[in-house]
Amino acid sequence: MQSRKKVMSLESMNPMVKETKLPIADHLAQRAEELQQDLKQGGKGRPYSEIMKCHTGDICSMGQKPNTFIQQVAAICAYPELLKSASMPEDVKQRAQGILQGVDGFSIGGYNLRYIDYSVPEKIAKFIERRDGGIPSNPRNIIGCHGVNLCIMNVMDLVTTKEPLKTGVLVPVPHCPVYTNALVLADAIKVPYQLDEGNDWALNLQELRQALQEGRKHCNPKILCIINPSNPTGQVQSRKCIEDVIRFAAEEGLLLFADEEKQRAKEFLAENARLTEEMFRQIPGIYCSPIRGSMYAFPRIDIPEKAVRQAQEQGMEPDVFFCYKLLEETGVFLAAGSTFGQDEGTYHFRLTLLPPKEKLKSVLQSIRDFQKKFFEEYS
Ligand SMILES: Cc1ncc(COP(=O)(O)O)c(C=O)c1O
Repeated sequence: MQSRKKVMSLESMNPMVKETKLPIADHLAQRAEELQQDLKQGGKGRPYSEIMKCHTGDICSMGQKPNTFIQQVAAICAYPELLKSASMPEDVKQRAQGILQGVDGFSIGGYNLRYIDYSVPEKIAKFIERRDGGIPSNPRNIIGCHGVNLCIMNVMDLVTTKEPLKTGVLVPVPHCPVYTNALVLADAIKVPYQLDEGNDWALNLQELRQALQEGRKHCNPKILCIINPSNPTGQVQSRKCIEDVIRFAAEEGLLLFADEEKQRAKEFLAENARLTEEMFRQIPGIYCSPIRGSMYAFPRIDIPEKAVRQAQEQGMEPDVFFCYKLLEETGVFLAAGSTFGQDEGTYHFRLTLLPPKEKLKSVLQSIRDFQKKFFEEYS
């Protein structure tokens, strides 16, 4: 009998999928999970009692309250009986009713996707018109997706072609890996443009122009991705920069992906941003650009040569090595800069500003103490 090979195994699977990465699903995340399990069993000998998950912008895992209005509207749309419930606030009921009235059968279940194609886009278009002082917005140009990630993947799939050259996608460096993942899966070519760390991570139009020219030598750049506020740097681009970029995209015939996902960051983060900047300013070997409007800080770190060599011997990026040791010794879980791309020879980490103030203080103190010890050990 012929020996049967598994159709789906690590060896036989789509190699593109293996190239994708996310800070919530890498080796560091795996180790954090093991440590968390160990802590549940008592974590004997460990000088900390919890894993501080500062590697992602997950509001819930950081103990912040989610937006209950959205949760409640979604719950009523899925189960309209809740309209009768006294536990649902009146404004929530009104919003849900407005959505349900626009769909067949007053329900969003089954194959009924009218709320994505009609009911919700009509409301969004009205909002945009109001916001923009009456400039008309066509609901047929608004597409709903379940999360930004899926939206990026769907549109990239839609635009990419292979002939005569593969499609190029201009992405900032650093950038959150959802873009690399989407373009790898769509078999498109990454055309990186560097953000200017020395100038608070500003987007430089000249750099963008050069990257486009470079890209045109080996692919057909069709998409320009702008992430504003930036993930991971936290930078917010100026109005002039945004206008210049829109003009540039129009002149060069590029489809503009303007990702403003991180605009959800809240006011309370301003206080945490101040605290973080202040602390990092006092730590030798850590350099943090001003944090403007996002939920992250993305400081550069010095890593001593001896630590770089040891990381390489262990097959790790030096900043992963730093984050690994920090996690192991303090329970603080950061995302390594190499996950997002960075200038050759520079190292960074990304820290979410979401923990409540007192917890964030303790996280920053742990980073400060660890950094001192790390330097003494490897210098
Ligand atoms: C800039 C940016 N775009 C897209 C995404 C993916 O968003 P979603 O979780 O809605 O799929 C993220 C996630 O953190 C992000 O930071």
